[in-house]
Amino acid sequence: MNTAKSIDELIEKRAEAREGGGADKIAKLHAKGRHTARERIDALLDEGSFEEFDMFKTHRCTNFGMEKTKMLGDGVVVGSGTIDGRLVYVYAQDFTVLGGSLSETMAEKICKVMDMAVKCGAPVIGLNDSGGARIQEGIEALAGYTNIFYRNVACSGVIPQLSGIFGPCAGGAVYSPALTDFTVMVRDNSYMFLTGPKVVKSVTHEDVDVEQLGGASIHTTKSGVAHLAADNGAQAIAYLRELLSYMPQNNMSKPPVVENSDPFDRADADLDTIIPDNPNQAYDIKTVIHAVVDEGHFFELQPEYAPNIVIGFARFGGQSVGIVANQPAVLAGVLDNEASIKSARFVRFCDCFNIPLVTFVDVPGFMPGTIQEYGGIIRNGAKLLFAYAEATVPKITITTRKSYGGAHCVMSSKQLQGDLNYAWPTAEIAVMGGKGAVEILNAKDIKGKEPDEAKAILAEKEQEYTEAFANPYVAAGRGYVDDVILPHETRIRVIRGLRMLQDKHMTTHPKKHGNIPL
Ligand code: HXC
Repeated sequence: MNTAKSIDELIEKRAEAREGGGADKIAKLHAKGRHTARERIDALLDEGSFEEFDMFKTHRCTNFGMEKTKMLGDGVVVGSGTIDGRLVYVYAQDFTVLGGSLSETMAEKICKVMDMAVKCGAPVIGLNDSGGARIQEGIEALAGYTNIFYRNVACSGVIPQLSGIFGPCAGGAVYSPALTDFTVMVRDNSYMFLTGPKVVKSVTHEDVDVEQLGGASIHTTKSGVAHLAADNGAQAIAYLRELLSYMPQNNMSKPPVVENSDPFDRADADLDTIIPDNPNQAYDIKTVIHAVVDEGHFFELQPEYAPNIVIGFARFGGQSVGIVANQPAVLAGVLDNEASIKSARFVRFCDCFNIPLVTFVDVPGFMPGTIQEYGGIIRNGAKLLFAYAEATVPKITITTRKSYGGAHCVMSSKQLQGDLNYAWPTAEIAVMGGKGAVEILNAKDIKGKEPDEAKAILAEKEQEYTEAFANPYVAAGRGYVDDVILPHETRIRVIRGLRMLQDKHMTTHPKKHGNIPL
């Protein structure tokens, strides 16, 4: 054996694999403002931490002369590395190799990395850029996809799974991200659709371009498929890194505590005046969130999808929490189909991964009407109810203002095993708002009366009802609210609550799994 020759051969092969589809294709990708798989991995992982495997793997397809189109690595770069010093597994599709299309071989590489991740209890991050199943392969590619999907499901709730979408992802390329926990897209440069515009046109005669069919703007506003839209690839990578920072390595561990200098007893006096005197006037719940979390930093998810509910991660005293908050500034914070689905999935994620839930409640109820009923508000509202009831992580609830009817029950109420349910003195916890209540209760009294007289009767009754019920003390008197707190005390009470609950242990009935109303 010629040692020098064999070493040169390895060096050459490595260089060849690193070239992917070749310099021309890389230049074309760069011209579109996109990056190669390796460039993305370098940006994602701590410098120098990437350990690659399966660099020399090639496809076995011989259809359509494919034996002449073999590229080392076959369009996906896989391995492990660290993010902020924590182990992760990663795969990144290389669009320069046959459009990142998925072959049987590519699927084997991705499955290997997923198997390693779950064996070692570390998160897995997929950087997707793929034209879907490799058309030349056919059924092998489909089987490959299904092997990945199976693993996505098997790993769900065991290790965090994150997806970045960095190019046009079509066909099978979208279902794996959909099965993962969070999906980040790049604006104007990434797309997700089952079938492209041409197929859409031939089947439904609809004219639609890629952006309108499956751009980041669509999936972060209308479909709810993606959680964040980044302005460019670098920002998408930064989002993935930050997302991970709130999560534990796996379902058997806790999220890392990130020390910071924000005093745990910091009190924000402005909170005492944030609730308007007029109960129908809006305010921004995000102002409350920013005022109470560590360093005012709230990492919001799906900000433009169902903005009447706010979800995202933050820290209290260094500890990761998932925040769910009704948003009175949008549709008065009402719960509708999209808001219920959005928040239910987030609650379940936090519960899977030992991330305590902090819920801010200001909700007038569920949205009434045929659009909501036909859209399945009963089933969808039940999802959120199910998710909160099922969650055994520490649950702290702060009612800032309205908490009415079914929405009161759903929003991490005491009866759903909320651990600490606090209310501000401005809270109104009742079956329904005063106006609606008195109209129902006094329908007989105003029958046949002149409009002005009827109005006066209702106004008086509404005042009586409001004085009796629009406060937190009826609920506190029953123990449904654990304490009524001053708004400026919120931060310290939440931090103390989280400390008090840090070793919370709750067992549930033995079962295979529940049957959430999907
Ligand atoms: C094989 C593919 C491919 C694919 C792209 N390429 N998609 N090769 N199988 N699925 C190749 C192209 O032939 C081209 O090769 C190179 O990748 C770059 O593609 P372009 O079309 O030049 O790039 P662009 O204009 O940016 O368009 C990207 C695209 C488009 C939107 C993704 O290529 C496209 O529509 N592809 C097909 C998408 C699709 O219908 N996939 C569904 C597959 S079925 P050269 O050699 O010219 O560079 C499927 C079902 C699975 O996935 C279901 C599981 C549940």
